[in-house]
Amino acid sequence: MDTIVSGMRPTGRLHLGHLHGALKNWLRLQENYRCYFFVADWHALTTDYASPQGIKSSINEMVTDWLSVGLDPRRSTIFRQSQVKEHAELHLLFSMITPVPWLERNPTYKDQLRELEEKDLSTYGFLGYPVLQAADITIYKANKVPVGVDQAPHVELTREIVRRFNQIYRPIFPEPEVLLTEAQKVPGLDGRKMSKSYNNAVFLSDTPQEIDQKLSRMMTDPARVRRSDPGEPEKCPAFQLHKIYCTPDEINYVSRGCRTAGIGCLDCKKVMIKHVIEDLAPFREQRARYEKDPEQLEAVLTTGNATAHEKAAETMVEVREAVGL
Ligand code: TRP
Ligand code: SF4
Repeated sequence: MDTIVSGMRPTGRLHLGHLHGALKNWLRLQENYRCYFFVADWHALTTDYASPQGIKSSINEMVTDWLSVGLDPRRSTIFRQSQVKEHAELHLLFSMITPVPWLERNPTYKDQLRELEEKDLSTYGFLGYPVLQAADITIYKANKVPVGVDQAPHVELTREIVRRFNQIYRPIFPEPEVLLTEAQKVPGLDGRKMSKSYNNAVFLSDTPQEIDQKLSRMMTDPARVRRSDPGEPEKCPAFQLHKIYCTPDEINYVSRGCRTAGIGCLDCKKVMIKHVIEDLAPFREQRARYEKDPEQLEAVLTTGNATAHEKAAETMVEVREAVGL
């Protein structure tokens, strides 16, 4: 059975973007693979080292969301990176063999430096982000890594580090492959990418009222200024959600209504909002159960940390021996 590793930085409550990006994919994968899913709290520290309080509180929020949507601790190992110290040791050993130019030319690194201009990211830890990621992946001898396109360069770097390690010492690690997540595009309420920091997200934990309010004011085709102005669904951010949530009949109905000005935007959205609320309802129910019993969450992580630790420790015995220390 192939092994899968993937992580998420703890950024707080998860939203529809996470659900249709990573999470639905993880749920599918846990049926057929040995999966390790972890909270990348050290990775969060590479950018948020100056305000770690947010990371701490985000961890439980995020894992609660994972469990609420159906990530199953009986199938998958769910754990916290910082609780398995072997990741740090392997990161150190990988840092010995990773040429700095490999890291400097990483496109995700350059993008992030530009995007997070307000933070001082001229740090050693931030440059080494993909080296830590390589350790996360290889310490479980993963064959496959499900990530979005933005993360593909990191997995490519992991492969290069693995090749170099295997060649300098001895072949211990498989070269992991990217399992590209064909994520459905989920625009935020303002039409930009859905993101907590843009304040345009529908959270998995939002109440039906919040979902209704948010989506009712979601951006539409700007051409529809008045009710009598026809629109074009393909130019409408809200319609991207219809495509995910509505039946083919409903999509035909609203598309025609939009192009002929036969229906107003609010009526159009109502068709979709109903589905979003229904779809999220079971997650809310699950979430309430976990919130009532916080010990359950603790137990999941304690068990997951221990399982992960066992495998990581086993790999490190081999690694230390291969490196000759
Ligand atoms: N860098 C990933 C992200 O930001 C998170 C991550 C850390 C990860 N380590 C990983 C993903 C290992 C896959 C495998 O989304
Ligand atoms: Fe978008 Fe529907 Fe309004 Fe057309 S009618 S612009 S598809 S919300």
